[in-house]
Amino acid sequence: MSIVTSATLTRTVALLFSLASQLSSTPAFSADAQAALNASAHTGATFQPPSEADIPAGPFGDTIRLGRDIMLDTPRHAARFVGNNLSCANCHLDAGRMAGSAPLWAAYVNFPAYRAKNSKINTYQERLQGCFRFSMNGSAPPLGDPVLVALEAYSFWLATGLPVNKEVAGRGYPKLEKPAQVADFSRGQAVYTARCALCHGESGAGQSTAGQVIFPSLWGNQSYNWGAGMGSINNAAQFIYANMPYGMSYSLTPQEAWDVAYFMNAHERPQDPRWLGSVEATRAKFHDSPFSLYGQTINGNVLGKTGAPKRTQDKDQAHIAP
Ligand code: HEC
Ligand code: HEC
Repeated sequence: MSIVTSATLTRTVALLFSLASQLSSTPAFSADAQAALNASAHTGATFQPPSEADIPAGPFGDTIRLGRDIMLDTPRHAARFVGNNLSCANCHLDAGRMAGSAPLWAAYVNFPAYRAKNSKINTYQERLQGCFRFSMNGSAPPLGDPVLVALEAYSFWLATGLPVNKEVAGRGYPKLEKPAQVADFSRGQAVYTARCALCHGESGAGQSTAGQVIFPSLWGNQSYNWGAGMGSINNAAQFIYANMPYGMSYSLTPQEAWDVAYFMNAHERPQDPRWLGSVEATRAKFHDSPFSLYGQTINGNVLGKTGAPKRTQDKDQAHIAP
């Protein structure tokens, strides 16, 4: 990659240190390169998005670059619409290029599409609005906003050469077999302590240096909210299996991935912005799924019982489908 942002650089340096201490006998390697090899082996993906050096000059190239920057540092480049300190690329690895990490190129060629989440046909920009509202715990940029246009332009450009309306290997997350045993909090906690806490912290709050997030938070008030896709244990287990521990993708057993996903999503996080006034009502309408722990009692606490959403912007979002 020819253009390295300082955020990426800081993180890479921190990662190499932490990986070196974790695997003291292994020579330092680029986590991204190893993950890319794993990704193509496990997803069958052969598509290669164009390299950053090929971003065209002129206004269109500038917009593509802005889209990439929003992916990598969302709180900085789309501040108005973000309510936590995550960036899109924390979950869509390698700035949305990585197969098996819900890459943007594979998504782009499959929209417009019907989504059960809001029971309507979603354009690509409408799909992106949902990410801001839930994963970023923020508010949806209006359709046509420069932020959505830039993300759409970047996705379109990454998809250069792919046929439209055709499933493509590498989309979403690779299928993960059902766990042999029902996912379990204490087994998940043991996986977390052994394989995750080094980077994401014992408290799940992640780690920052000089205001820059190095390791993103997994729960708590700076994380994704209860309405986000990652809040479903099945999505989280698939993502984790294919992408975590960072640089050691596909190294957990499926059982470990399900257990640690359960553990992660058995912690408190920001309220679902579709809040209906009580946990019971919100669970009944939006979380009636075995994969959601919202409204369930874990260790004596009812998850989601934190009252109305803290962000007031969402009141203005009534015109946007959930
Ligand atoms: C906390 C993790 C997380 C963050 C942060 C996040 N996403 Fe996602 N994203 C997901 C998950 C999980 C899915 C799949 C969810 C589902 O299928 O319901 C997804 C799905 C998508 C899709 C559709 C993929 C497909 O193949 O249909 C797009 C596009 C997308 N996200 C873009 C973004 C953008 C742009 C941002 C930043 C504004 C963002 N996401 C932030 C986790 C995240
Ligand atoms: C070596 C450090 C490291 C380890 C160990 C690690 N992660 Fe991560 N994790 C990261 C980094 C870095 C990112 C963001 C990736 C990016 O921005 O490119 C991330 C992103 C995530 C995300 C999506 C973003 C978010 O905050 O919701 C989840 C979920 C996650 N990790 C879960 C786990 C789990 C579960 C484990 C243990 C099985 C684990 N990670 C182990 C470094 C690590």
